[in-house]
Amino acid sequence: MPRLPFGHKSRPRVYVTRELPGDAIERLRDHADVDVWHQDTPPPREYIVQAVAQADGLLCLLTDNIDAGVIEAGQRLRIVSTMAVGYDHIDVEACSRRGIMVTNTPGVLTETTADFTFALLLAAARRLPEAERAVRDGRWSTWDPSFLLGQDAGGATLGIVGLGAIGAAVARRARGFDMRVLYYSRTQRPDDVELGVTYAPFEKLLAESDFISVHVPLTAETRHMFNADAFDRMKPTAIFINTARGAVVDETALLRALETQRIAAAAIDVAEVEPVPKHDMLLRMPNLLVTPHIASASVATRQRMARMAVDTIIETLEGKTPEHCVNVDAVQGGVERPD
Ligand code: NAP
Ligand code: GLV
Repeated sequence: MPRLPFGHKSRPRVYVTRELPGDAIERLRDHADVDVWHQDTPPPREYIVQAVAQADGLLCLLTDNIDAGVIEAGQRLRIVSTMAVGYDHIDVEACSRRGIMVTNTPGVLTETTADFTFALLLAAARRLPEAERAVRDGRWSTWDPSFLLGQDAGGATLGIVGLGAIGAAVARRARGFDMRVLYYSRTQRPDDVELGVTYAPFEKLLAESDFISVHVPLTAETRHMFNADAFDRMKPTAIFINTARGAVVDETALLRALETQRIAAAAIDVAEVEPVPKHDMLLRMPNLLVTPHIASASVATRQRMARMAVDTIIETLEGKTPEHCVNVDAVQGGVERPD
């Protein structure tokens, strides 16, 4: 295990669990002693525990499980900043109990993620992965009136589950395809008419949608929201798209729905276990399109996310409250810390 370097006592210390795009780490070094995990895969938990013991700030990724044990080890920690909008990998309650701020990077990835969601929707509708494979495998023998027939997005009904920032950005794109857009969300949006979307109870959305796209965060309430019952309620021609979190879906139920053609196809950027194990049965499904959690992966967006994750740490170390602190109410009182 690599040894942690020791910095100057008067400067705060920040531990970063991976190299970041752009100039983010350089910016951080202007304000703190920074220790970075330089490998391509996440640091082992024991290393994070060892590193946070000496850190005032932790900048982590969604691949790092920041559980209560890690937080307990971070006796000096003031902030946990994740370079992601989803923060289900952090025990926020454990942070709040210790007065540690948790920050995320909403907004800056919204349009990029919505673009990718639409890319998945169109690719699954028109069977792009199957078509590409057919050409490479030498199965393009002629123009065939019945070869690789897909479904039209234009004029179809899109059901959006979770009409937050990304859900709304997907709805705006759907307008360009003359789609009828239904949505189900925890709270009905006051601007839904303006967005051109119609609220529908979950079951109605499942029954009427040609495409269903998921944009809820992973919480205790949303875990396995898409189970066997949900897939059974969908049209047999339905296409299911998930760019939110894998565990929002019961993958055993999804596998069965694809195997039995209970639904036509699915396109997923996220999985319950990431990376998806090579021999996972889901990967054998020709009607599944799967990508490796890259919905926010454009050059500009990843730089914006890294910069935002760093800026929230700098602000916190300067005694300010960053804008995107998810537990601001719980930590506002402040707690006493060791010097
Ligand atoms: P957001 O603005 O917070 O939107 C989430 C929406 O889901 C909100 O409208 C929220 O309702 C709703 N919601 C929460 N719990 C719900 C429930 N139990 N039932 C129905 N609706 C519920 O977040 P966002 O920026 O759009 O991001 C959404 C999620 O996408 C993130 O949490 C993250 O997991 C995922 N994501 C993935 C990628 C990727 O690379 N694949 C990239 C970005 C984001 P309220 O308004 O009532 O809170
Ligand atoms: C990516 O999955 C994110 O939550 O930003």
